[in-house]
Amino acid sequence: MPLFDVYPLYNVTPVSGKDMLVYDEKGVEYLDLYGGHAVISIGHSHPNYVKAVSEQVSTLGFYSNAIQNPLQVELANKIESLSGCTGYELFLCNSGAEANENALKLASFKTGKSRILAFNNGFHGRTSAAVAATDNKNIVAPINAQQQVTFLALNDIEGVKRELEKGDVCAVILEFIQGVGGLDQGTAEFFEQVDTLCKANNTYLIADEVQSGYGRSGKFFAFQYYNVTPEIISIAKGMGNGFPIGGILIHPSIEAKHGMLGTTFGGNHLACAAGLAVLNTIDDEQLIANVNEISEYFISIAKTIPQIKNIKGKGLMLGLEFDFEVGELRKKLIYEQHMFTGGASNKKLIRILPPLTIKKVHVDAFFEALKEVLK
Ligand SMILES: Cc1ncc(COP(=O)(O)O)c(C=O)c1O
Repeated sequence: MPLFDVYPLYNVTPVSGKDMLVYDEKGVEYLDLYGGHAVISIGHSHPNYVKAVSEQVSTLGFYSNAIQNPLQVELANKIESLSGCTGYELFLCNSGAEANENALKLASFKTGKSRILAFNNGFHGRTSAAVAATDNKNIVAPINAQQQVTFLALNDIEGVKRELEKGDVCAVILEFIQGVGGLDQGTAEFFEQVDTLCKANNTYLIADEVQSGYGRSGKFFAFQYYNVTPEIISIAKGMGNGFPIGGILIHPSIEAKHGMLGTTFGGNHLACAAGLAVLNTIDDEQLIANVNEISEYFISIAKTIPQIKNIKGKGLMLGLEFDFEVGELRKKLIYEQHMFTGGASNKKLIRILPPLTIKKVHVDAFFEALKEVLK
């Protein structure tokens, strides 16, 4: 049976990985500055992660959400202590889209309203409400387009005020650093005013931290650079270091009701073991401090390369903007220099999303390779 051909593929077949490196079937080594799309947080095949997941699968891999699961409680407590989101409650699911879908659904349940406010160039996933709130017509099917969504430009605070005062908006959903869209960010003033307007209009602020969360921005959550209090925070990618797990953190003012949300696989034992190994490693290895140190080093070198016209993003969620389309450059980086990087809907931008364990030697190797392909 052929695979349903929805992905344009690079001709590379990784078969193993170790920290910042992946190896293909012929043993060729690649440096991973893409982290499998911002997913690999603690490095490929981290020994603590391998041990935790292996031990869990050999004892109890799965049971449903109808029983006590102390691993979920342990995971929730660890997220609370590392993120500083005191009092928030955790609902677990399996992916970023699902996290946002549940966030939007909860906002609608609780406010009794149904319109969503989202932003140009935002990406929130492929499920029904999440994809409708994503600014890409090509991935919105007619069934999704039935959702009521209004898109505004980032920083259009007058637009936000006008729309929220109409009284029918259940949620404002936003990325504090846009991922797929190309690393654009609103201003602090904008984000803080959006938060205030949400509180004044019984609208939930949903921080989509699926990509920017878990330390990637240099803080546990990117919204923590600002004075805002999201009602819901969605998380996924870096959470499981490749094991599918997502979730939402829900503000203590929002009361749960049995049956309101649910899932078969979300929060299963294996996912929790993976999630705990990730958080313990972020903590033990002080990876958020490493993000800040390496980010500064990376940016200082990027600034010396004349072809790089703009450096965007924060922490290890960075974009290098050129004044030409970078598709060919990224191909040369893969096939000639054996380096994975990411693309964006901004075709002139290379995305840098490495494991949070990256060291200066890897940054040096990347820039040597970049200079070579820019010759
Ligand atoms: C900001 C953001 N939200 C949501 C998603 C969707 O996550 P998933 O692909 O796990 O459904 C993504 C994926 O790239 C993302 O970058």
